[in-house]
Amino acid sequence: MIETQKEKRFRFLFVFFLLSASSILQNCSLAEDAELKKGREIFEKYCVLCHGSEGLGNGKLANGKNVRPANLQISRLTDEQKYQIITKGGQAVGRSSFMPPWGLEFSQSDLKSLVLYINTLKKQ
Ligand code: HEC
Repeated sequence: MIETQKEKRFRFLFVFFLLSASSILQNCSLAEDAELKKGREIFEKYCVLCHGSEGLGNGKLANGKNVRPANLQISRLTDEQKYQIITKGGQAVGRSSFMPPWGLEFSQSDLKSLVLYINTLKKQ
């Protein structure tokens, strides 16, 4: 089949469109990976002591405490509720003050990446 000039140009544009769409998608998933990585780093440094590395609520500091650190794998909280309890601490949302507030420690985007990360710990 002989392509006209117009068809050639259309084909070029179409391929160009596909390439840019795929690179945009790739960048989005890279950004998400970076956020998850940040969330994991903070979690492993600050949260694991109570919640345990898999979020089961069995970290070292959980021993002998009346209030168990929540099992994050079976959390029923919405993302917004998680964000609130992480930022303001347990007491501010009517739960135990054993869950500390982190809002002054981390930026908003760090707090969001924590929510993103703890969601990956969840078992269906
Ligand atoms: C000193 C111990 C301790 C540390 C450290 C800690 N938590 Fe908690 N966390 C708790 C306790 C205890 C609860 C349960 C409070 C309750 O049920 O009254 C809790 C509850 C939560 C909940 C609510 C989950 C649910 O479904 O009820 C989230 C989310 C959470 N913690 C996230 C975090 C994150 C993220 C970090 C680290 C930045 C962190 N916690 C650090 C003790 C801790």
